[in-house]
Amino acid sequence: MAVQGTCTVVVGCQWGDEGKGKIVDVLAEGVDVVARYQGGANAGHTVHVGDNEFILHQIPSGILHAGKRCLLGNGVVLDIRQFFDEYDALESRGIALEGRVGVSSRAHILFPYHRLMDRAAEDTASLKIGTTGRGIGPAYEDKAGRRGVRVADLANRERLEELVGFALDRIRGRLDQIGHGSGQELDDLMGEALSLGDRLLGLSLDTGAELMATLRAGKRVLLEGAQGTALDLDHGTYPFVTSSNTTAAAAATGTGIGPTAIDSVVGVVKAYTTRVGEGPLPSAFDPAMDAHVRELGGEFGATTGRPRRCGWFDAVLSRYAAQVNGLTGLAVTKLDVLDTIPELEIVTGYRLPDGSVVESFPADTWSLGGIEPVVERHPGWNAPTSEARALSDLPSNARAYLHRIEELTGAPVQWVSVGTQRSQIIPVG
Ligand code: IMP
Repeated sequence: MAVQGTCTVVVGCQWGDEGKGKIVDVLAEGVDVVARYQGGANAGHTVHVGDNEFILHQIPSGILHAGKRCLLGNGVVLDIRQFFDEYDALESRGIALEGRVGVSSRAHILFPYHRLMDRAAEDTASLKIGTTGRGIGPAYEDKAGRRGVRVADLANRERLEELVGFALDRIRGRLDQIGHGSGQELDDLMGEALSLGDRLLGLSLDTGAELMATLRAGKRVLLEGAQGTALDLDHGTYPFVTSSNTTAAAAATGTGIGPTAIDSVVGVVKAYTTRVGEGPLPSAFDPAMDAHVRELGGEFGATTGRPRRCGWFDAVLSRYAAQVNGLTGLAVTKLDVLDTIPELEIVTGYRLPDGSVVESFPADTWSLGGIEPVVERHPGWNAPTSEARALSDLPSNARAYLHRIEELTGAPVQWVSVGTQRSQIIPVG
């Protein structure tokens, strides 16, 4: 049957924190359903509505628009306790959620032992990834290891007890071995998480079926990714990545629809680059500029509060992101943060130690530590942009900078964000 509605994916094209929350919030206005397709409480999507700041970790940012339906797909690993804390906190701030949130019955549950394992693994690892400590890696390991617990399992007490029992035996042994976690703490946390099982079952459904019915009814769907392309398990800077596929193709597998149902893919890039956690940042600023832009852009993690490392816009990465995500358009965020920088650079290639220049993103993550970025210089605009609401309101140097990003990436700029507020957005074209 032909699909009549429209389905758009919003995907991060750097190392996460590109401002997807703001873009999803803006685009959500024009859709009927928003669904998250991967990740878990490692994400932190910050949205400003008037004087209120909301940081959403698991519930899609579309929830801040009254009446929109928000789903968490099967590709998500769901931390039950954290999910309901977030749910209740939104309600206590006046957001009505009744009948608006659904969770895939096929989503895997992230239990407190996954968090303990994540922290224990980071503390004892010789190669640290700098995870968010939210249990994401261990939860996806259980999923791939075919021993995970899914939302649907909550309906069968016997099977649930058996699955959780196996997991606890395995995890206690491992935690004892490395001297982490106390048995009592774990029992308490598990009791708390399992007591929320029935409440979660009440929200469970088949996200693919609902999304396809929505599209067939001629309505509009937005699929929201978390993290970014360079953190994708397959395509990112492995092993310094998250444990799921963050890229656009995962929007289909992570919600239960087919790839042919997707019409467009909007890639979100910051006007510069940031990274939190371990791993290379090829376009990194020098220390003084790093500190300056971190301050200007408020570059501290929404989930962990960690300072983000900052660098120039990296077109090698954005071009790669256009390829792996099949981008049909770009949303450029935080342009206003660059308003006072006298001269800007864009990285267009990586010079290898043998002097040759590569313009494609290398598979060997370690080689990124030895490259020298090849840069183009662009004059700054030295004027405020936060009041601009049309491309023509922007200084010509800012327009030229955006045009160059578009040219180097190979995808048209469709949105430019110039501040944290909903209204601070420029629709292009
Ligand atoms: P994990 O996803 O907690 O396992 O962390 C793996 C890597 O992804 C670490 O470098 C984290 O800092 C990074 N990461 C995970 N979630 C986010 C995010 O939402 N924004 C930016 N970085 C993230």
